[in-house]
Amino acid sequence: MNFFLDSADIREIRDLADSGLISGVTTNPSLITKSGQEIKKVIAEICSIVEGPISAEVTATTYPEMMQEAAVLTQISEQVTIKVPLTFDGLKACKTLSDQGTMVNVTLCFSATQALLAARAGAAFISPFLGRLDDISMDGLQLIRDIRLIYDNYPEIETAILAASVRHPYHVLEVAKIGADVVTLPGKTFRQLYNHPLTDQGLEAFLKDWKTTGQTIL
Ligand code: E4P
Repeated sequence: MNFFLDSADIREIRDLADSGLISGVTTNPSLITKSGQEIKKVIAEICSIVEGPISAEVTATTYPEMMQEAAVLTQISEQVTIKVPLTFDGLKACKTLSDQGTMVNVTLCFSATQALLAARAGAAFISPFLGRLDDISMDGLQLIRDIRLIYDNYPEIETAILAASVRHPYHVLEVAKIGADVVTLPGKTFRQLYNHPLTDQGLEAFLKDWKTTGQTIL
């Protein structure tokens, strides 16, 4: 499973990408707004930091305007993946852009049948939002399970399942067990994956013992 960052915070992306473990970045209009930067500038900067697909979302809601915005965003870099909402016009834009060879991430997916249509439209990624389903007492993980099952029924489907709206490490564990292709994480959740109090305590004890030897490795 590949790890993407769900962020438009340049400092955070730079810090975490330094691990070499980040394969892409997803943004959305809310994250761009939070960054306080102009969309084209922030997307270009992210592309210069992370190698791999960088999702930039259209804000238009009609097909012709989505296509116009996509034309501007794809000029930024070959890495730009156009993110479109899972609406009729979004699916139509996905089909046209995918046929033209542009990678598309279909976002705001809340049902497996929506995911099936996105695959048919040639999406490179489908983004089911599990946290937002959990928020309304629905089973977000079940949605990912259903999409995995359906996609696996049709080997010709190449759309990658990008688990989104991920809130905590348990979501990451479960989507990995289900077989999501990618998980996109806020910086906080990525850090929670490697931080563990027993690791910290264990390291402290090892270093305390080591100090008593007076030895150095170098
Ligand atoms: C994914 O592409 C979305 O930007 C994101 O995961 C939404 O997450 P949220 O529900 O925490 O806002």
